[in-house]
Amino acid sequence: MEYKISDRVQTLKPSAIREIFKYAADPTVVSLSAGNPAPEAFPVKEVAEISARIMAERPVDVLQYGLTEGYLPLRQHLTAYMKEKHQVGRDFDDILITSGAQQVMDLTTKSLCNEGDVVICEAPSFIGSLNTFRSYNARLRGVPMESDGMDMNELERALKEEPRAKFIYTIPNFQNPSGITMSLEKRKQLYALAKQYGVMILEDNPYGDIRIKGEYIPCIKSMDEDGIVIYVGTFSKVISPGMRVGYAIAPKPLLQKLVVCKQGADVHTNMWSQIICHEFMTKYDYEAHLAHLRELYRVKSALALRKLDECLVPNKITYNPFEGGLFMWCTLPDGVDMPAFCKEAVLRKVCVVPGNAFLTDESEPCQSFRINYSTPTDEQLVRGIELLGQLAKDVL
Ligand SMILES: Cc1ncc(COP(=O)(O)O)c(C=O)c1O
Repeated sequence: MEYKISDRVQTLKPSAIREIFKYAADPTVVSLSAGNPAPEAFPVKEVAEISARIMAERPVDVLQYGLTEGYLPLRQHLTAYMKEKHQVGRDFDDILITSGAQQVMDLTTKSLCNEGDVVICEAPSFIGSLNTFRSYNARLRGVPMESDGMDMNELERALKEEPRAKFIYTIPNFQNPSGITMSLEKRKQLYALAKQYGVMILEDNPYGDIRIKGEYIPCIKSMDEDGIVIYVGTFSKVISPGMRVGYAIAPKPLLQKLVVCKQGADVHTNMWSQIICHEFMTKYDYEAHLAHLRELYRVKSALALRKLDECLVPNKITYNPFEGGLFMWCTLPDGVDMPAFCKEAVLRKVCVVPGNAFLTDESEPCQSFRINYSTPTDEQLVRGIELLGQLAKDVL
């Protein structure tokens, strides 16, 4: 059979870094390449209790079809919660429950982009989203990152040069992969520029609740008086990614288009997991759970940072200041071949993600790699960073 794949999908290539991920499955390799929550962060007891209760008390709610927009009590609760806690959501907005944050990227691109339209992204940025934008044949325009977020001069240049820009994709808190948090000043500038040039902002905030140090910075969506921001939230990093519950808060006319697209994708998000999220937020102490997560990640990230200072920094590897989230972004000295370094790391049984995987053009040079500290055990974390330190000592 000759499979006649569509032009759109035919052009998609598997990522070059898949090669490296193959090694991560080897149990003798320490993987610092994932992005998963710590296994001990899951509220297992509470989810088991809620599951048993809802199956006993109202199994039909769990097992029956639901509305595409999402489970109404969860929508209502999240709307009030986000308004009160983050000043996110105006009367012109509405909320859609999605199958993870990832689905918001998909529905947004499908709703807004024609082939050849442009998505302006931070460079580097989250691969999952970049691949979604690519799958609609959107062209990616990267804007370099500075220590406090996107370079605003470069952003303005991109907006001037790209009349087909449809939206700016940003991860303002503890960005995946760089760990960078956008300053309040830049959030305001970004908003003003988007408004001036008539493009939307897609604000993706999976890590906002995992702030380990520093001051809270308001969401860009909290400034949205003009209906130009699509806010993306998710329970993946704070309850469970396996449950696949995320949400979009966006202006109603646009959200209605996302709803139509979702109908054709998966009808609605899994009812069981939506009800679990709602019960967990309303019948348990959700803020205490978030505080517990921050403490767990504070301890774990402190271990990683201590080992980075001990093993990498003396061997010429620097890393971005860490304030929260699940990643550390490490940079090799100029002139060092980063892909070769990451390949050699795998041969020495530690796997990290080469930074160019997160660029809008993977073939561009990059001197950085990403470490995840939340997934490995403490022993694996220590061992992995020691192996990287030894490698740096031998080759740099
Ligand atoms: C920046 C960013 N956005 C979105 C996602 C996807 O989240 P979800 O599991 O809710 O689809 C991730 C997952 O790692 C992420 O890092």
